[in-house]
Amino acid sequence: MTRAPGLAVRSVIAGCGSALPRRVMTNAELSKIVDTSDEWIVERSGISARHIAGEGETTRSLGAEAARRALAHAGVAADAIDLIIVATSTPDQTFPATATLIQADLGVTHGAAFDVQAVCSGFVYALAIADAMLKTGQARCALVIGSETFSRILDWTDRTTCVLFGDGAGAMVLTAETHPDTSESPGILVTRLHADGRHHDKLYVDGGPSTTKTVGHLRMEGREVFKHAVVNIASVMQEAMAAAQVSPGQVDWFVPHQANRRILEGTARKLGIREDRIVMTLDRHGNTSAASIPLAFDLAVKDGRIARGDLVLFEAMGGGFTWGAVLARY
Ligand code: UT7
Repeated sequence: MTRAPGLAVRSVIAGCGSALPRRVMTNAELSKIVDTSDEWIVERSGISARHIAGEGETTRSLGAEAARRALAHAGVAADAIDLIIVATSTPDQTFPATATLIQADLGVTHGAAFDVQAVCSGFVYALAIADAMLKTGQARCALVIGSETFSRILDWTDRTTCVLFGDGAGAMVLTAETHPDTSESPGILVTRLHADGRHHDKLYVDGGPSTTKTVGHLRMEGREVFKHAVVNIASVMQEAMAAAQVSPGQVDWFVPHQANRRILEGTARKLGIREDRIVMTLDRHGNTSAASIPLAFDLAVKDGRIARGDLVLFEAMGGGFTWGAVLARY
């Protein structure tokens, strides 16, 4: 006799939104600032253009706009939100958390609001935290935002880093809902997070309040990060899929952090993933750190690729190193 599945609280993605700065900077423009070329950037990274925040555009303003669009898409009133998590490494101020600034912009005065700092893995970390809080009843309706203005911490004389990053924001509304406890039900199925701080000096910012009393600039040993990225990303994706007992062929969409086209292609080859199942936006957005996953997800939902019921795997790796994956049925 087979038993009917029990019920479980699930964190369901009710809606999504995104926001980009007005200004687009092409590779051709960058080649006038540093010794680089469109050919090199496209061949080594897959990036053709990125958005750069102008005056008045900040992590807060982009994040708030993405949040408003996500709320509208979900059909949820701001007042229903009782948890705001902003994943960012480029907050408007050292404190208070950008999440509290966005909370004020949305007119919300209850619930919790805080930032999560896991660099490019920030959105995956924030999703995992929101999921845990929704499942344990600490919140009912969460706004998870990834928002970054990396252009403000780039060394615009360093061609090895300044060509790779861009600015932007993405957001998801997650609601706690009770569903049969199967992988066919909507919501987050699995979250897996990792960190290995031995590599903290391979991708970092050379400043901070407690050391230099400055903001600092991004520094990266690109080749080292690349090597670890392919291994760590493939491993955590396998871990998440194994936990949910699904094979790569059963995942409808892969929405990865957008760092480098060659990393995504290498991972796809390793795991036997069809490349047309990967949402890629890095050609237009560059690497927007914690914003890249929700930006890519929003684009693919709004253009009709990702549909309700689809199984989606999010993954990221970033400074720390940190890395992680989230498997969800949309
Ligand atoms: O989001 C967080 C995670 N971040 C990442 O995953 C980034 C991981 N790393 C990467 O994506 C790649 O390592 C890069 C795109 C950063 C670099 O690609 P690469 O194939 O690893 O190049 P490289 O660093 O080995 O540099 C190759 C050559 C060097 O010249 P030499 O030493 O061979 O003469 C660099 O000086 O390319 C040179 N180079 C450039 N040339 C033109 C480095 N940057 C540039 C540039 N334009 N912008």
